[in-house]
Amino acid sequence: MDPERLPTGIESVDRILGGGLETDSVTEIYGEGGSGKTLFCLEVAHRVARAGDWVFYVDTEGVSVDRLRAIAGEGLEKILKRFLLSTPKNLEEQGRAVATACALAREGKRRVGLLVVDSATFYYRLSLSSSDEDTARETLVLQVADLVATSLAAHVPVLLTNQVWRSLSEGTLEPLGGSFLNHAAKTILRFDRLGGARRRVTLVKHRSRPEATAEFRITASGLDGSAPS
Ligand code: GTP
Ligand code: MG
Repeated sequence: MDPERLPTGIESVDRILGGGLETDSVTEIYGEGGSGKTLFCLEVAHRVARAGDWVFYVDTEGVSVDRLRAIAGEGLEKILKRFLLSTPKNLEEQGRAVATACALAREGKRRVGLLVVDSATFYYRLSLSSSDEDTARETLVLQVADLVATSLAAHVPVLLTNQVWRSLSEGTLEPLGGSFLNHAAKTILRFDRLGGARRRVTLVKHRSRPEATAEFRITASGLDGSAPS
């Protein structure tokens, strides 16, 4: 049976995803700074919370509420009642936040509509090239494995963002987190900045959809994917 989909509400992106995010697997978004990863997560989270389902949101950037206000406007208070927001300060705290979110989602007492980790690799990146690198990788792998299992067991879509590094030999932008993250995420979207407010989304991996691209625009009140792409 085809997995169910959670519409993101961004038309162009829903089109290439065949209706929205898969509800039993992890979707990864990677892209350079300012490409719209956080705005995208907030937009989907806002939609889920507005419909009355819970959103578990692990935020390593510490800026989500202000930006959620721009999207939600007057409705912010109602939206926040459906948000379980954690703001970890290091990779271990992030691990505890993810473990709590996964346990609550599996417990099933609240209707959880979305689990977000933005960014999943910010603290991991800080540990690269240090003596803690192996431990950090192991910690990240355990977190992602928990998220994969939880998504499948509890039918909760998981949205992860990932940062990029520039391969000097190839001249390309590559996602962090290595091959484990690439395998764990069943859907992978790459975000790129075009001119001004325009952003391109490339579907680079999906279980049942072909590689495709879409566009959206960043506006003061959210993301607009209504223009034909
Ligand atoms: P990192 O977390 O740094 O990796 O970036 P990100 O991919 O999460 O990007 P984010 O979602 O934070 O996108 C921020 C981008 O949106 C920046 O380029 C801002 O200039 C742009 N932006 C924010 N608000 C507006 C707006 O009202 N209008 C327009 N045109 N752009 C905006
Ligand atoms: Mg961000």
